[in-house]
Amino acid sequence: MLCLGIESTAHTFGCSVIEYNKDSSYSELKDSFILSETRDIYQASAGWGIHPRDASKHHSQVAAYILNKCLQEARVDIKNIDLISYSAGPGLGPCLRVGAVVSRSLASFYNKPLVPVNHAVGHLELGIKLTNSDNPLTLLVSGGHTMLLVFHRNRWRIFGETLDITLGQLFDQVGRKMGFASPCGNKIEELSNLSKTNYLHPLPYIIKGNDVSFSGLLSSVKSLIDDKSNSIYDICFSLQETAFAIIVEAVERALAFTGNKEFLIVGGVSANKRLSEMLNLACISHGSDFNSCPLRYCGDNGAQIAWTGSQIYSSDKSSCIMPENATINQSWRLDSVHIPWR
Ligand code: KG4
Ligand code: ZN
Repeated sequence: MLCLGIESTAHTFGCSVIEYNKDSSYSELKDSFILSETRDIYQASAGWGIHPRDASKHHSQVAAYILNKCLQEARVDIKNIDLISYSAGPGLGPCLRVGAVVSRSLASFYNKPLVPVNHAVGHLELGIKLTNSDNPLTLLVSGGHTMLLVFHRNRWRIFGETLDITLGQLFDQVGRKMGFASPCGNKIEELSNLSKTNYLHPLPYIIKGNDVSFSGLLSSVKSLIDDKSNSIYDICFSLQETAFAIIVEAVERALAFTGNKEFLIVGGVSANKRLSEMLNLACISHGSDFNSCPLRYCGDNGAQIAWTGSQIYSSDKSSCIMPENATINQSWRLDSVHIPWR
């Protein structure tokens, strides 16, 4: 089965064609089922975050180009696509609507089955597939989520989460305060690596049970930036070390409690090498396998939507919707999604 996945929840407009074979074993060649994966990322102005209307304008402008490029790279004619899936939420309304409209138009014009996909479930499912994991304790860290999850009885259950802003928002807001354009997580990582002294500013460290909090850390880091005598390299170093120590402590608590011998990290922030290094050490001390989503697929992409859509459809053919019902849900919680295929 050939599936086209369309992603447009926030800054990324992406398309992917995958070849889904239900009988293929999980140990099969890692990402050979992804025939193509194409995306374009909206860049905010320096010092600014995502403006939903501008981002949706970006998505509308690049949609046709990205879709055609994706089909060409996969060497697939749209007429031969068996299924179309799109990210229906959670995310920014104007951005989500572009993906829904593109998918709805294609599905009705070419008469193809259409399946809505929860974006966060997409991160989890593709991460599991690409790392050959079975049932890992999973950390989803992105602009939209900071959650520790375990799969149980057909649902992803939230073991712990942020009480305020996400790790991605923390990085993006610090970056914007420094004058960079969102998303800025990779910029913060780059600057942190340039710290010569590795000076650690004392910063708020908040963890409550299995939940974490980053808003106090954000305020303190903003004050450090205002004091021009501080090196931005040391500020970024201190931010990363403190925020990641909080997350790692939450992960260690969950590993100790669940006794899970498999750990997986997914989402845009999982691209950060220092975070992986710290989590890997925690996993070693708990005798758990550390798995990280391959770098190329950490951030938002169409493959996570195509892969998840294929699983939904192949487990239940009645899951497809009529094009006119291709709606979006900006606040679609991932723990509300019933998952019959796992
Ligand atoms: O998964 P994603 O592409 O979109 C959402 O679902 O939100 O994640 C985007 C987030 C942004 O906040 C971005 O700053 C962050 O991932 N990010 C990073 C790195 N690369 C991207 N954060 C820390 N270190 C990185 N290298
Ligand atoms: Zn995402």
